[in-house]
Amino acid sequence: MSKRAAILGAGHYVPSRVVTNDDLAKLFPTSDEWIVQRTGIRERRFIEESGIGASDLALPASKMALERAGRDVKDVDAILFATLSPDVNFPGSGCFLAHKLGLPGVPALDVRNQCSGFLYSLSVADAWIRAGVYRTVLVVGAEVHSTGLEFTERGRDIAVLFGDGAGAVVVGESPDDKVGIQSIRLHADGVGAQDLWLEAPASKYMPRLTHEMIEEGRVWPRMNGKSVFRWATEKMPEVARAVLADTGWTPENLDLFVPHQANMRINQMVASKLGIPEAKTVHNIERYGNTTAATIPLGLSESIRDGRLAPGHKVLMAAFGAGFTWAGATVQF
Ligand code: UT7
Repeated sequence: MSKRAAILGAGHYVPSRVVTNDDLAKLFPTSDEWIVQRTGIRERRFIEESGIGASDLALPASKMALERAGRDVKDVDAILFATLSPDVNFPGSGCFLAHKLGLPGVPALDVRNQCSGFLYSLSVADAWIRAGVYRTVLVVGAEVHSTGLEFTERGRDIAVLFGDGAGAVVVGESPDDKVGIQSIRLHADGVGAQDLWLEAPASKYMPRLTHEMIEEGRVWPRMNGKSVFRWATEKMPEVARAVLADTGWTPENLDLFVPHQANMRINQMVASKLGIPEAKTVHNIERYGNTTAATIPLGLSESIRDGRLAPGHKVLMAAFGAGFTWAGATVQF
């Protein structure tokens, strides 16, 4: 019988530079009031200086996750690195992280599923462990958004949302068959691909980058915020209900809901549709903004630190993002 996979430890890291809404209001027309009302975000973290990539943020998060899992770096036999902001276009950030951890020869796979990237990666780790392919998988979500935002009036709808940060978990064989990953469901629908995307530079264009693209702002992320909001508040509850049903759990017997952190209003609406009280829902968007693939592992790690997440707890996770992609998971700690 295949072994169940479990999350054995979680870690996180955010850069020290705090950027408040008032700081952004000095760069383009916006206000603390507008940002807080529409998104719940009060501040976010940005890298301190040029040259710090997603793999640099992932390194301390990974070490914390390994320490909390009681594992040595040398125990890691595969790395999954979820990011939409890799250090460079190629190779993947997983290769940089493996090198920084001192793990020559260990496979490293980058997962490019944006806000759902962590749950997509968790699903791969779960399958690898259950199939006996690998025993200890490091799953990381890390992003450096601050170098890729347009800090002008044109880009302000997106520029206020995102922050830099990293979260990591160690996935391994469950010590007890009841503990571990219960259900994960993944979805995608390219009908929304252009509702949240970064178009250029792009390999489909000759040349990949032109002055026109820069002038038109196609080198910055673009979003149809209303469409993303509508889809997220429909698909997150749907996938959450599906994984709860797979597991035979109800919102009442859940201990913690760790949703992706795109917008406080989205999470409140999703939690309310599911009937999950505010006290059981993790929010860190006020302090970090949307850190994309990092939001869920960051939420898990801080919840463990704060004593909100402990052995025996039943945890629900759900995410929605660019692609569109969305996913849900239930995990017994
Ligand atoms: O992981 C997925 C990531 N993305 C999301 O989940 C985003 C989901 N969508 C949202 O959270 C919301 O759509 C936003 C918070 C991004 C925007 O809220 P909205 O209520 O949809 O605003 P809007 O785009 O319709 O803009 C309303 C007004 C516009 O001005 P006018 O045309 O009414 O004069 C915008 O130009 O707000 C203006 N606006 C801003 N004002 C101040 C847009 N961005 C800003 C800003 N500061 N940063």
